[in-house]
Amino acid sequence: MEPTATTAPALPRSIDEIRAEFPILTREIHGKPLAYLDNGATAQKPLAVIEALDRYLREHNANVHRGVHTLSEEATAMYEGARATVADHLGADRRELIFVRNATEALNLVAYSWGRTNLAAGDRIVVTEMEHHSNVVPWYQVAQEKGAHLDWAPIDGDGRLDLDAFAQLLERGPKLVCVAHVSNVLGTINPIAEIARMTHDAGALLVVDGAQSAPKLELDMTELGADFYAITAHKLYGPTGIGALFGRRELLDEMPPFIGGGSMIRKVTKELITWADLPAKFEGGTPPIAEAIAFGEAVRWVDELGLPAIHAAEVELASYALERIAEVPGLTVFGPPAGDDRGGIVSFAMDGVHAHDISEILDRHGVAVRAGHHCAQVLMQQLGVPATTRASLAVYNTRAEVDQLIDGLLDVRRVFEL
Ligand SMILES: Cc1ncc(COP(=O)(O)O)c(C=O)c1O
Repeated sequence: MEPTATTAPALPRSIDEIRAEFPILTREIHGKPLAYLDNGATAQKPLAVIEALDRYLREHNANVHRGVHTLSEEATAMYEGARATVADHLGADRRELIFVRNATEALNLVAYSWGRTNLAAGDRIVVTEMEHHSNVVPWYQVAQEKGAHLDWAPIDGDGRLDLDAFAQLLERGPKLVCVAHVSNVLGTINPIAEIARMTHDAGALLVVDGAQSAPKLELDMTELGADFYAITAHKLYGPTGIGALFGRRELLDEMPPFIGGGSMIRKVTKELITWADLPAKFEGGTPPIAEAIAFGEAVRWVDELGLPAIHAAEVELASYALERIAEVPGLTVFGPPAGDDRGGIVSFAMDGVHAHDISEILDRHGVAVRAGHHCAQVLMQQLGVPATTRASLAVYNTRAEVDQLIDGLLDVRRVFEL
């Protein structure tokens, strides 16, 4: 893959070498080579991650933080080692890195623990029109419970956040702002550092949904300015069932636990229960140990390739996809024009054909895409469509796979006699 900009960092391995690390990419679907373009839903897993899961379960399996036998000590060291890897990757202290099931749980943790403690009747929470339901529903729930109010920051015609309108909402004095770093539908990359400055100047805290950004962008919590940042491993070439919440230490210290049970207590008596220190306070019960360890491996894998190089490759391929999609008549493409503030996500609608029909015909061509509202129903209302078809790219995708998508789309037009 040729980088377009001379400054774009190159991947350290060829695309063929990278693809060879993903066993699933050799599959055929309906007799056609698989073109997996549904990475926004979940990414495929490299051998490093598959083998980390396998190795842990074969050789080290035990519960963590409990036994004093060798296997338990090994499992604990591997689990905590994974935390250190993910924390270092995010520029966070390991006490600021809570393992959770996914981004959804991370956001619910903040809403339940911080929100129920700090929000009161009449308080305002800003969310944006491009949010995934994971960064809306928890805030709606806590707002309902507390009598707080949700304000919706609008998007402009290009699918970018309207920062002037956002600034006006900040004048209403919200306590909290909740924003996706990268939109899962539009591919828009929001300027989080600027949003953090604006949010803090207005006296509010910033919660960032990083489900789509973590697989693409280098993140440093000390520079970015988010107070809470949610990520999910399965979109970052890791397993399902594990994600992480970054939270600023002074905030997490003050927050009550989310889930009560084993491992999250300091002491339990009949009269009084006290909480464990961070991060254990937020990790009640046996955690997904194998998954956390494989998450650490996934982070090591992307770090070795380098996120700037992954991002540059995806931006280049997204530009090619946008160019080629423009050749297909009757398509409306959503989101900003090709460029650095657009990740490798391309959503579109075809006049007269439902997204599900498009997706089904593409599947016959071996092309996996997502069709539907993408858990972003407010955004669909803003875009004026019930659903879109979404092609979402990862580091292993190729121009040939984009061409396969275009051939499939031209076939959709033939099938529907358009
Ligand atoms: C922007 C965004 N936020 C949150 C999520 C939720 O991620 P998870 O299902 O892993 O919790 C997704 C998943 O599609 C997403 O795209």
